[in-house]
Amino acid sequence: MSRTVLITGAGRGIGRKLAEHYMGDGANVLLTARDPSTLDDLAAGGAEVFKLEVTDAGDIAQLKSALGSRPIDILINNAGIIGGPGPQTFGDLIMDDWAETMRINVFAPFAITEALIDNVMASTEKKFIVISSRMGSISQNTAPDKIIYRSSKAAVNMVWKCLHNRLASKGAIVVPLHPGWVSTDMGGSGAPVTPEDSAEGLAKVIDGLKARDSAQLFDYQREEIGW
Ligand SMILES: NC(=O)c1ccc[n+]([C@@H]2O[C@H](COP(=O)([O-])OP(=O)(O)OC[C@H]3O[C@@H](n4cnc5c(N)ncnc54)[C@H](OP(=O)(O)O)[C@@H]3O)[C@@H](O)[C@H]2O)c1
Repeated sequence: MSRTVLITGAGRGIGRKLAEHYMGDGANVLLTARDPSTLDDLAAGGAEVFKLEVTDAGDIAQLKSALGSRPIDILINNAGIIGGPGPQTFGDLIMDDWAETMRINVFAPFAITEALIDNVMASTEKKFIVISSRMGSISQNTAPDKIIYRSSKAAVNMVWKCLHNRLASKGAIVVPLHPGWVSTDMGGSGAPVTPEDSAEGLAKVIDGLKARDSAQLFDYQREEIGW
């Protein structure tokens, strides 16, 4: 039987390319977007599409209700934001941007995963993925800026470590992944990695994940990044 993959924020960027990859791979593909019409073409190709503003508890409850107890092999929390245009540093940081970024990049993956834990644990692969960032690594950071984005990704990494601590003994594989610096709306046109190459790499890494890999931070080429 085909495996089932759910991807949030699939309307554009890395999420869309992950969706196209898994559709080409023959998976049952469940996609979410704030505006489901951005996924009309993929729905026509067989994807199931759900409306999900990731910060909206009502949308999350509706998604759970629509899915019932259906197993999800790979849950990919991909939706995210950069946290505002500025340098995000001391003397130049907008608190409201920080709060909004934490809601989208941290609280939402927690809430979506909490709602769908039983679906993933009922599956064969039991993979909980969040698209995090190298910028969330505390040990690798030497820069003073992008505090909003960095702290949100560091925080979601910690959420993933806690999820690992809770579920690894039951067979879950709980992994944050860095997609590379990717030429999406977020990464900008000068970024060296295409969304296609990032998605292909991420999917290959996800395919190869074993229990021993849980709670490690990898990039899209499976290079291990220190927390
Ligand atoms: N690009 C990079 O270089 C890079 C590097 C490291 C990590 N990442 C991470 O990779 C993930 C995808 O980034 P990307 O480069 O593909 O960014 P992107 O092109 O800006 O796409 C972001 C996606 O997230 C969705 N999203 C944002 N806020 C949302 C919300 N409140 N509710 C529902 N969906 C929401 C967007 O939906 P809408 O279309 O509705 O806005 C869009 O589908 C993010 O978590 C990002 O932090 C990216």
